Amino acid sequence: MNQHAFVQPEPFTADQQNMLSDAISGLSAQRKTLPSKYFYDEEGSRIFDEITELSEYYPTRTEAEIMDLYGQEIASIAGERVLLVEYGSGSSAKTRILLDRLQNVAGYVPVDISGEYLYQVAENLQADYPNISVLPVVADFTDPFSLPRETDPAQRVIVYFPGSTIGNFTSSEARKILSQMADLCGSDGGVLIGVDLMKPVQLLLAAYNDSQGVTRRFNLNLLHRLNQELGADFDLRQFRHEAVFNPDESRIEMHLFSLQPQVVCLDGMRFRFTEGESILTEYSHKYTIDSFQKLAASAGLETQRIWTDPNRLFSVQYLTHAAQA
Ligand code: AVJ
Repeated sequence: MNQHAFVQPEPFTADQQNMLSDAISGLSAQRKTLPSKYFYDEEGSRIFDEITELSEYYPTRTEAEIMDLYGQEIASIAGERVLLVEYGSGSSAKTRILLDRLQNVAGYVPVDISGEYLYQVAENLQADYPNISVLPVVADFTDPFSLPRETDPAQRVIVYFPGSTIGNFTSSEARKILSQMADLCGSDGGVLIGVDLMKPVQLLLAAYNDSQGVTRRFNLNLLHRLNQELGADFDLRQFRHEAVFNPDESRIEMHLFSLQPQVVCLDGMRFRFTEGESILTEYSHKYTIDSFQKLAASAGLETQRIWTDPNRLFSVQYLTHAAQA
């Protein structure tokens, strides 16, 4: 008997199933989309690191500069016995700036949807900070989740959400995430969040359409990933990266434009593209101090302090639970 004729393809993992159903619903929509969270496979994370090194891409460098300059002040405002809860896996130098400066830390809780990566990062941090208890939580922070059991009754929860990842969400999604943060930090905690600011459109476009084509590779890697992991048949040469600015929504929108009429197959389904039709792959909202303050207020958070760089490209903001009326 010829065994090879009956070889079954590997079944999808639960993560791949989720990605598949998200991809199918995104590509079936009138306005085709793919969720930006799928950018970050190993290759995508590596390309993102390259993006952060680009001269045109100001956010990462500027946020780090703000944390360097004001980290001491931020830590003293956060206070003692802080349980630092980070949204995202906390691999960054920014987290270490805080952990180095906070007094009598009650614990560090990185929250990430990808367990494997999270546990790796947690282990590394634990090795470097033997006196801080590192308590990773595998969860999707866009949904409510619970904190690990309290160890220190005096602890104050500070939620840390760096990187302006909040910009990836629509205002109603962002409002929901912010109000869950408000619940988590309660009346005596706070939220420390990185927020990218509005600036001349030409600077934004340059940051997302870089001259070396790194962002182009980052965007196209999403299609490569669907090919590799889900068996899609995207022809990467038939899609063009372009980031545009949507002034009505004050956001950068990353697109992949179809260069010709084409059909793409995924899981036995056929997705038709007209020439020039695009897949919207990411939002990156740009706020003013005012527009972010209003958003935070609508989620029950009050802006306490704002730190920015001299050019006001980026901000780090400290928010607290708004007083009950
Ligand atoms: C990691 C979400 C902050 O929106 O600037 C960079 C992702 N996309 N270049 C951003 C990104 C294209 C980035 N964030």
